[in-house]
Amino acid sequence: MIDLDAAAIAARLRALDHRAPVTVAAITGSTNDDARAAAIAGAQHGAAFLADAQRRGRGRGGHAWHSPPGENLYLSIVLRPADIAPREIAPLTLAIGVAVARAIEARFPEGSRASIKWPNDVLVDGRKIAGVLVESALRAGAITAVVAGVGVNVKTLTFPADLADRATSLALLGARSLDRSALAAALIAGITRAADRFAAERLAPFLDDLRARDHLLGQPVTAIEARGIGAGVRDDGAYVIEVDGGARVPITSGAIEAP
Ligand code: BTN
Repeated sequence: MIDLDAAAIAARLRALDHRAPVTVAAITGSTNDDARAAAIAGAQHGAAFLADAQRRGRGRGGHAWHSPPGENLYLSIVLRPADIAPREIAPLTLAIGVAVARAIEARFPEGSRASIKWPNDVLVDGRKIAGVLVESALRAGAITAVVAGVGVNVKTLTFPADLADRATSLALLGARSLDRSALAAALIAGITRAADRFAAERLAPFLDDLRARDHLLGQPVTAIEARGIGAGVRDDGAYVIEVDGGARVPITSGAIEAP
């Protein structure tokens, strides 16, 4: 039996008091596009769209997301956070990253930590295990829905050459469970709760955990705007780089590279 099943996910979600619908496709272009189309057609907050494989899975910055069948989790959730302006939405990626890190960490033996490489990479032992892609649907300058897309490497044992030295999976790390439906339910419930909390309180309730998981802290880092040492996440979600001479440069968009 395939371990990715809408009925199994929905049953687990009911036990977590999450009642929005779950759709699982055998293959799709991108689950973020499926969720976006459903959001525009009126899908409710918390509705989840998954696929066993994606033809055009995408990551941030236009990168492709490795999406073979039978192995991993490709999940997108429709979120309808109340009263959030487009300029306030960027740190939602960080709040969702915390939710993803917690769900993944729960699959490992005590003591394993999932870290976050600002803004959207979840790493274990320094290798990427999951990524978050948040996209907004706007009308007349207001957010009507947000799509939270998450890819988690679950069973992949061999990655393509360009990812081989920086990606990992639950299987490669000896996780307790590789049941994709169980992980999907934990992620859907956790991410929806994180979005609710973010809508009410913004980033504040996530900051301690985010800072404790900061992969870049104290590392030599490079962004378009600055090169220096990672100096942590600011209260508004910007990442601070301390440059030679001590100036602190906040990075609010784009990527930060570390060795
Ligand atoms: C990143 O690390 O750059 C973000 C990767 C996000 C990948 C997921 S897989 C499910 C959803 N559908 C997509 O096309 N992308 C996201």
